[in-house]
Amino acid sequence: GKNDKIAADQTVVDEMRQQLNEINMKGKVVIGEGELDEAPMLYINEKLGTRKGDEFDIAVDPLEGTNFTAKNLPNALSVLAVTRRGNLLHAPDIYMEKIAVGPESKGSVSIEKSPTENLDAIATATGRGIRDLTAVILDRDRHTDLIEEVRESGARIRLIPDGDVAGAIATATSDGADVLFGIGGTPEGVISAAALKCLGGEIQGKLWPRNGSERKAAIDSGFDLDRVLHTDDLVRSEDVFFAATGITDGELLRGIRFTAEGAISDSLVMRSKSGTVRRIEATHNISKLSEFASVD
Ligand code: FBP
Repeated sequence: GKNDKIAADQTVVDEMRQQLNEINMKGKVVIGEGELDEAPMLYINEKLGTRKGDEFDIAVDPLEGTNFTAKNLPNALSVLAVTRRGNLLHAPDIYMEKIAVGPESKGSVSIEKSPTENLDAIATATGRGIRDLTAVILDRDRHTDLIEEVRESGARIRLIPDGDVAGAIATATSDGADVLFGIGGTPEGVISAAALKCLGGEIQGKLWPRNGSERKAAIDSGFDLDRVLHTDDLVRSEDVFFAATGITDGELLRGIRFTAEGAISDSLVMRSKSGTVRRIEATHNISKLSEFASVD
């Protein structure tokens, strides 16, 4: 709410990095804040942890929704996903066309079909009418045709200003969303895949370069632009951890609430292998925490 997205991002990046460096692991950032030369911390390939222990790949989006954190608008999250080394797609930082659904509709949709066909399939899978379905779509000009088609189908639309990770998760929780359609970040697609694996949902994506140079860079890095990337291509392991903490209030999580002593946070912590979904509300005492940090 201080209209400073750079400071907001830096604060979360610094804290997340410090916490991850205390864990006994040989961690490596696979999805992060950019390349080494453009991001001071949590850059791709940055090594994290004490360097004792097992090897893990880490995907971070320390501030999913930098703009709306700066403006104190709903739905900003801090998210990360962790699996054993080699199991997360090294996603290029370009757009991806996505479709995500929850467990009920898993296996019934295809990104190669039209939104109308997919809504039909979801209606059949869930036993509801198309008019009773809600599609989550990022509010962007590039989605004008998509929005028109979904409206014509009779389904409801939840337009979101930012944050398609929360949008994807909403399809697999009791948030009243049935499908996420549209084009957003590829890194966010991998992080959403981790969350949906934990929740039993599904995401499909196709890389969506905006111009010739993004297209060339993706092809040169070995990506097939026609290939549909399924949940298992984005996150290969059946054992992935996902954690999200609310920064500003949203449907999924409450944002940070400041108190006289410090703050209260609301987090979602999940593991795909066990299927455990934990909600953690934590009360933080700032004076004790800083005392603790200075002696530790
Ligand atoms: P950041 O705030 O982390 O940059 O991302 C927010 C976000 O809305 C993502 O959730 C989404 O995938 C992407 O940006 C969409 O990109 P754009 O704002 O360029 O349309």
